[in-house]
Amino acid sequence: LVHHYEQLESTNDTARDLAVQGADHGTVVLADLQHSGRGRRGAVWASAPGEGLLFSLILRPDYSRRYWSRLALAAGLGMVDSLRSAWGIEASIKWPNDVYIQGRKCAGILVESQDGFAVVGIGLNVSSSPEGGDSTSLHEQVGVEVSREEVLVSVLDAVLQESKGCADQFASQVVRMRSYCWLTGKDVSFVSNGEKIHGHVTGIGNEGDLMVRVAGVERSYQQAELIRVV
Ligand code: BTN
Repeated sequence: LVHHYEQLESTNDTARDLAVQGADHGTVVLADLQHSGRGRRGAVWASAPGEGLLFSLILRPDYSRRYWSRLALAAGLGMVDSLRSAWGIEASIKWPNDVYIQGRKCAGILVESQDGFAVVGIGLNVSSSPEGGDSTSLHEQVGVEVSREEVLVSVLDAVLQESKGCADQFASQVVRMRSYCWLTGKDVSFVSNGEKIHGHVTGIGNEGDLMVRVAGVERSYQQAELIRVV
């Protein structure tokens, strides 16, 4: 079921409210315009009216909650796969939550969960990308106008499919993530648990963690706020 709104504050908030009221697994909240679209770490997600695909998907995974932290990675994997197969775009995962094309951000994912459900919020630049930032849009990449409905159908299906596998298919998902990982081979600066670190990304670990060679030693990070990528 898709609830389509012309405008609202944030599809993640509306989806959460619907989920609290008992909305089913697979329910989608779609908006043409958000007044308080949110990104991770308190960032704002801006999108001109009708230019972006903005939606949130309610999930009620049937596996243990300890695997739910993998949902954002799985959603990114599904999105990258569908963009590649539907439009032949070389999309990649910018660990952990973004979709990049040609080194620029095309989509972001914000997963929020509480007891009983998770909300996977996706913002994807379809017709244009916000000015000023280093981002891109599907239109810019494909060269022709792409309909948001078409993108929604293929992305939604892929994200739903991948979200099922976070518990028992995660090992094979990680293998696919590795082949799409945009950070692999790059030098990065990031902050993890308050510590500023410089290193060389070697890939994605078995838990979906970022593997980084720091001063000659390979280390694993579950969380990292990237500052610079070279
Ligand atoms: C990020 O890049 O930090 C994540 C951005 C997520 C934006 C989407 S747009 C639809 C959904 N509703 C929100 O308020 N945020 C997500």
